[in-house]
Amino acid sequence: MNLSNWVSIILILSTLKPQITTGLSDISQQFLEFAKKDQVFEWMVGIRRKIHENPELGYQEIETSNIIRQELDKLGIYHKHPVAVTGVVGFVGSGEAPFVALRADMDALSLQEMVEWEHKSKVPGKMHACGHDGHVTMLLGAAKILKHHSHLLKGTVVLVFQPAEEGGGGAKVVVDSGYLENVKAIFGLHVSPERPIGQVFSRPGTLMAGSGFFEAVIAGKGGHAAIPQHSIDPILAASNVVVSLQHLVSRETDPLDSQVVTVAKFEGGGAFNVIPDTVTIGGTFRAFSKEGLMRLKQRIEEVIVGQASVHRCNATVEFSSKDKPLYPATINDAGLHKFFEKVAGSVVGLNNVKEMSPFTGAEDFSFYQEVIPGYFYFIGMKNEKNDKPESLHSPFFQLNEDVLPYGAAMQASLAATFLQESQRQSQNSEHKDEL
Ligand SMILES: *[C@@H]1O[C@H](CO)[C@@H](O)[C@H](O)[C@H]1NC(C)=O
Repeated sequence: MNLSNWVSIILILSTLKPQITTGLSDISQQFLEFAKKDQVFEWMVGIRRKIHENPELGYQEIETSNIIRQELDKLGIYHKHPVAVTGVVGFVGSGEAPFVALRADMDALSLQEMVEWEHKSKVPGKMHACGHDGHVTMLLGAAKILKHHSHLLKGTVVLVFQPAEEGGGGAKVVVDSGYLENVKAIFGLHVSPERPIGQVFSRPGTLMAGSGFFEAVIAGKGGHAAIPQHSIDPILAASNVVVSLQHLVSRETDPLDSQVVTVAKFEGGGAFNVIPDTVTIGGTFRAFSKEGLMRLKQRIEEVIVGQASVHRCNATVEFSSKDKPLYPATINDAGLHKFFEKVAGSVVGLNNVKEMSPFTGAEDFSFYQEVIPGYFYFIGMKNEKNDKPESLHSPFFQLNEDVLPYGAAMQASLAATFLQESQRQSQNSEHKDEL
């Protein structure tokens, strides 16, 4: 243990005071029991299935938004709509500061559901294959828990139902809406099919990568495939571009700084005997730092344009546009990590709070973290009901509904405890002022 750890322990010890308020594990256990009650659980399952049957893509979550607002109305929770096109922001608690936010993403994917069951997606080509139907339900569950225990809330919980996580950057639009200006912290979660139910996973600092998308049109001159000397072949140029892009990570990046460049789209030509005029390529890039991401963006453009010109082709490159913004890396606030471990421990037991490795997926939760201390975590949902889970974004993906009470209780406990601690801290600092 190094010196700074000792210093922080001493600091923590020095702020400990006898507590008169309800203990942390008391409320967390109350919340989990409440969420597991048959009546509450079945209510959540009903909502989740209704949303699952009618998946909607980013910024089109009209019905999902209706369901959310109807449930908030039934709970007597004040809310604002529309926020960020189809989003909803609810408020539960005293109506006064401090404010803490909980976020759920609402959108589905362009994917045909392949699971045959009673509540299969009724919309061809659209599916909740990333669990956002569950996330919305858990936040409504948290809303119900918090409303039922609102006498315990020492401030206001802001419930953020956010559209368009899957590439649309709905979080950025919510931030720009201004509803989060006085919020002191924000928490978000994601279901994890491979991890055991009753456990939660996260880490301090960098959790997920920043990401961007690119698309390039490489233009040559089409012609007869048997007389190549009269054409300028964009297929060969694009092929060399794809190979050259591999060098950005293998030769220009610090091996200890993980990055990804993937060309996932390659389109051109339609006949065996015709050299096409153009080829379109596209893909994604990932990095854990803003500098890394910006460097990749710059070099991807330089390499595509430069390598195309070697083959006498012209190239134009476009990056993540307005509807596909660059996502920053998801970086968990270090202070909130200790808080999270403590609260999560009181909900699911300390043994079930696990530290995970960072990975190169991306999350637009990062837009909140750019302006507010934020914490993102994963919640396991593997048990005997789904012991061979399909991954997120698979057409065979199935949400295990047993996870719903855990998510609802986790979110509600994080928010309620955060408000309690904020109040305690501000009381402590008032006492100091008096001295
Ligand atoms: C590339 O652009 C230049 C300048 O606009 C043009 O003269 C040339 O014909 C273009 N080449 C191809 C292969 O499109």
